[in-house]
Amino acid sequence: MSPIEVLFVRGGRSLQGEVEVQGSKNAALPMLAASLLATEGQTVLHRVPPVNDVLVALEVLRRLGARVDYDATEGVAVLDTRDVKETQLPADLTNRFRASLLFVGPLLARFGRAWIQEVGGCTIGSRPTDYHYRGFARLGAEVEGVNGGGIDVVAKRLSGAFMYCDLPSHTGVENLVMASCLAEGESVIENAASDPEIVDFASLLQKMGAQVEGVGTRRVHIKGVRELAGAEHTIMYDRLDAGLLMMAGAITGGDIALKGVVRDHLYVFEAKLQQMGVEMTEEGAWMRVRGPETLSPINVVTTFYPGFPTDLQPGITALACMAKGDSYVRETVFEDRLGHVKALRSFGARIAPEKDSLVLVHGPAQLKGAKVKAMDIRAGAACVLAGLAAEGCTEISNLYQLDRGHAHIEHRLRGLGADIERH
Ligand code: EPU
Repeated sequence: MSPIEVLFVRGGRSLQGEVEVQGSKNAALPMLAASLLATEGQTVLHRVPPVNDVLVALEVLRRLGARVDYDATEGVAVLDTRDVKETQLPADLTNRFRASLLFVGPLLARFGRAWIQEVGGCTIGSRPTDYHYRGFARLGAEVEGVNGGGIDVVAKRLSGAFMYCDLPSHTGVENLVMASCLAEGESVIENAASDPEIVDFASLLQKMGAQVEGVGTRRVHIKGVRELAGAEHTIMYDRLDAGLLMMAGAITGGDIALKGVVRDHLYVFEAKLQQMGVEMTEEGAWMRVRGPETLSPINVVTTFYPGFPTDLQPGITALACMAKGDSYVRETVFEDRLGHVKALRSFGARIAPEKDSLVLVHGPAQLKGAKVKAMDIRAGAACVLAGLAAEGCTEISNLYQLDRGHAHIEHRLRGLGADIERH
């Protein structure tokens, strides 16, 4: 993709038609990392979404020496990591997405060593990594900053241990599970995150031969095994991509049908949309979403799963701009995830100065097309939503960010009748 590509959206069309949700990025990423644990057989993943973070993660695997065959159209990745010997992660790739940290756990488990320079990703707060490294240390690894940069994690032997997260960390749990599953003895991770992507990831690990229990609860239990083998798995649908598409239907007063909405993963989000006047009905494998003529205002507090997901907060803030009345949106997971507020103001949204991560949105605003930058994946999604609802033309730049999390969004929205093009 050329870095100067721009998305042009001409708003005001009510979306109609059918669309399919992509496979989950945040489930695919730990599974790609987990493939490194296999010393026998291949790992075959289905419904792997062709988003930038996944493409870069596949490249990381190749650079470590894995054989990677990815068919983006079919969404199938065949990964053979048997010949991997490299334990230094390529810095020019790890600086592009934070989830590259997920490669450290399996390299440490399999080879007793991993080196990583720095991790990149969304600029949504300081995003420390202490739970990951503290957990590795508790398993017996030495974690050292290296002269000239980077972190070296080394262990002669890993032994099962008690580990914990101060806050339920999504990738923290995944990394510590991978580091523990070949360790000698039993491990416990207390105050674990319980997101559906972690449950899906653990079911791949179980197929590979890992003994992991309690995933989906606050306490995860791992019994170390001697070796793991490749396995086959179909990745869950992406609840955040589903959320974006549902909000696209809602903000345009549309009537759309989505394949791949797992309601069990989205209860709180769905309840909030209902409060805004959006109708959602299950019709076999499809969910029908009908937006009201006028949205109602909303109170949202983001929190850990199963609470309202922080990743859908920028999008619902865009919806709140159109709602008739005042809405309150409070971000509690990341301290700096309000970058989209400035962008929404460019569309003419009336949003009070944010204070203590609380956003007060005065609706309804008559949104007008604007020139904006996708600051991160989900802020970019909020710009797309505002653009669909705004009068006139919107130009969204910095599309690398949006493409990190949502595949071919303009194709899928165009299929619903949106006037949206990439140039
Ligand atoms: N935290 C620490 N120390 C750590 C790890 C986390 O203090 O070592 C704190 C964070 O600062 C934050 C909280 O714990 O306040 C939770 O962060 P978490 O570790 O759960 O975030 P993450 O694992 O880095 C994943 C998703 C994010 C999503 C968050 C929250 C992946 C690859 N990323 O990040 O997804 O926002 O969980 O649900 O799974 C996205 O897809 O756009 C995205 C940013």
